[in-house]
Amino acid sequence: MATRPPADHRRLWTGSCRRHGLICLMIFVVAYLFYSTKTTSKWNSEMEMKNHTNPPDRINKSQTERATFRTRNRNSNTPESNPTLHTNAAGVASVKAAFTSVKAIIASAMSSVKADTASAASGAAAGFSANASSPVVPQTHIASTAHQEAVKTQRPPPAPYVSPGPYLVEYPYEYHFIINEPERCEQEKPFLVLVVPVAPYNKADRDVIRATWGSESSVSGKAVRVFFLLGLQGDAEMQQQLLQESEAHRDLIQSDFVDCYKNLTIKTMVMLEWLDSHCPGASYAMKIDSDMFLNVKNLVNMLIWAPKYNYMTGLVARNAAVLRDPSSKWYLPFDLYPQPQYPRYALGLGYILSSDLPKKLIQASRHVKPVYIEDVFLGLCMQQLGIPPTDPPGWDYFHVFPLRYNRCSFSRIIATTTEERTDRVWLWKDFKKPGPYC
Ligand SMILES: *[C@@H]1O[C@H](CO)[C@@H](O)[C@H](O)[C@H]1NC(C)=O
Ligand SMILES: *[C@@H]1O[C@H](CO)[C@@H](O)[C@H](O)[C@H]1NC(C)=O
Ligand SMILES: *[C@@H]1O[C@H](CO)[C@@H](O)[C@H](O)[C@H]1NC(C)=O
Ligand SMILES: *[C@@H]1O[C@H](CO)[C@@H](O)[C@H](O)[C@H]1NC(C)=O
Repeated sequence: MATRPPADHRRLWTGSCRRHGLICLMIFVVAYLFYSTKTTSKWNSEMEMKNHTNPPDRINKSQTERATFRTRNRNSNTPESNPTLHTNAAGVASVKAAFTSVKAIIASAMSSVKADTASAASGAAAGFSANASSPVVPQTHIASTAHQEAVKTQRPPPAPYVSPGPYLVEYPYEYHFIINEPERCEQEKPFLVLVVPVAPYNKADRDVIRATWGSESSVSGKAVRVFFLLGLQGDAEMQQQLLQESEAHRDLIQSDFVDCYKNLTIKTMVMLEWLDSHCPGASYAMKIDSDMFLNVKNLVNMLIWAPKYNYMTGLVARNAAVLRDPSSKWYLPFDLYPQPQYPRYALGLGYILSSDLPKKLIQASRHVKPVYIEDVFLGLCMQQLGIPPTDPPGWDYFHVFPLRYNRCSFSRIIATTTEERTDRVWLWKDFKKPGPYC
């Protein structure tokens, strides 16, 4: 990092300095301070861009600096950012001017840092959340410590919170994993990944699943893995318990959005992001609700013969009416979705995706209003992609109404909801005991 002014400047300054010692001393102090700040390289690139050329090898500019600099250059061409140091005038006037302009440059360099940070922030927000709920903040609203922090780490401060209203969710948005299993998929290379959205406090359901269909880790020669997907809920004690549970089972994934029914769409999209970044090698993923019965063998056997790309299946709804009664659990106002019917979509109780779809759906979601009804939202994203969900090969593989248990009927299905009071651990034991099913 250069800490000395280029030769031209030194010549000008030493010439004047013989005559005006005190002023020059001040200028040197100010100039030295200026050159030793972090803004130096930005300022230097500014100089270079304006063709007040310096030896190019003096500065090592990162790509980001170049990028943010371009942004700044486009946005602000303030008079202060035109340094006058390079004029050839000598004497007091020019030295004073130089002094003033050094101050101006410092000021402009400082504001340039701020502008860069702010534009990086809004750029990131805009890049990540194309059209959703993140207007550009006036720069003055961001605390200067946040600026310094952001400059240091190159990470922009988070976009401001703007409520999207009751029927849309905060997506796209950069959520972060608090508990993660970033490597299990890579190491264990499952054929099928089962992702169960579940509330943090609902350990009971997780334990039932671990004791039942979640324990099937190898079926028809294919590896199957279960992960539970949580948002934020509860206090520090709850969080501590989750960490312990994660330690014990290595099957929790938690992201930092508020976990509630209205946020299920966020949960689903976070699931897709996780699959895309941490589990791209799994051939299929299934999202399945925590109160379901799952016949893993039938599922795997179906998937062995299923299409490998652009494949989504489950219980596919067609021509489903949009509910316009505001008291309905699935109400959607006309202005958010004016059509009377939804496009084809797979019901959220359990659907399967081929491994290429998470990435495509994330991209498509940028162009679809993030409605809170998660399965409908995925249906809208599939429509955006032009890929309709497919019916499974068996018409009665998926059941939205609880199927009464008997070994024979459960041996023929893939998934069904269960009655609330069903003893699912007992049911599973009975189902798995040896002997003919029918
Ligand atoms: C700098 O000057 C050179 C020629 O002197 C010119 O080719 C180049 O485009 C200029 N760059 C900028 C950023 O003005
Ligand atoms: C300059 O930056 C490049 C990468 O952009 C880096 O590899 C190199 O080590 C840097 N050089 C110096 C002197 O910092
Ligand atoms: C959904 O999650 C976002 C992000 O955590 C949060 O701001 C919002 O309040 C949540 N929605 C509800 C209805 O709690
Ligand atoms: C963003 O919204 C504008 C109008 O609000 C629309 O014209 C544009 O197509 C939208 N862009 C995306 C990527 O959805």
